[in-house]
Amino acid sequence: MPSVKIGVLISGGGTNLQSLIDNIDEGKVNGEIKLVISNRKEAYGIIRAEKAGIETLYINRKEFQREEEYNKRIIEEFIKRDIDLVVLAGYLKVLSKEFIEKYRGRIINIHPSLIPSFCGKGCYGEKVHEMVLEYGVKLTGATVHFVDEGTDTGPIIIQRAVEVKDDDTVDTLKTRVLEVEHQLLPEAVRLFCEDRLSIEGRKVIIK
Ligand code: GRF
Repeated sequence: MPSVKIGVLISGGGTNLQSLIDNIDEGKVNGEIKLVISNRKEAYGIIRAEKAGIETLYINRKEFQREEEYNKRIIEEFIKRDIDLVVLAGYLKVLSKEFIEKYRGRIINIHPSLIPSFCGKGCYGEKVHEMVLEYGVKLTGATVHFVDEGTDTGPIIIQRAVEVKDDDTVDTLKTRVLEVEHQLLPEAVRLFCEDRLSIEGRKVIIK
């Protein structure tokens, strides 16, 4: 099977991107990251990609009047490189309708909770863990899902639970959830690259 061409979108530190790079380097994922795009100039993920010899681009949203035009630019860059799979690895912006239509069933996102808990509009990054602690749930976790038009509503590929401890802080909980994220994202990408995921309604069947 030819290796899957991956485009990654990031906004921040890029530890999930790093776990993907490492898994590909170790030969565990039949894919190749062709391009990493960040909407933030100072995102450390850009440096991680550069260190791995991956092409990077910073695209400034402010250079575009409308969200759609900004998304169009990203689509163009992905089309140029023949991208098969788009991975959102800590990308904190919502994709346009056109983007989702173009790559339907081929966009994967990682979210640091057990969806459908602690997700949706405004529930991202550290806020997720704050809300988890505030609510007092005993279990949280991570979810990898396909992206649809909603926020965190697409078909779920894999999830894993993380216990919440009485003395957890946002930092300690985030660290333990991230460890799980670093296993789940490459695992989901690996399954995609082996053509083992099929979407049936809301369900993802792993073949
Ligand atoms: C992760 O928790 C991811 O799930 C969330 O933002 C965080 C990004 O971490 N969407 P990193 O940039 O991959 O280090």
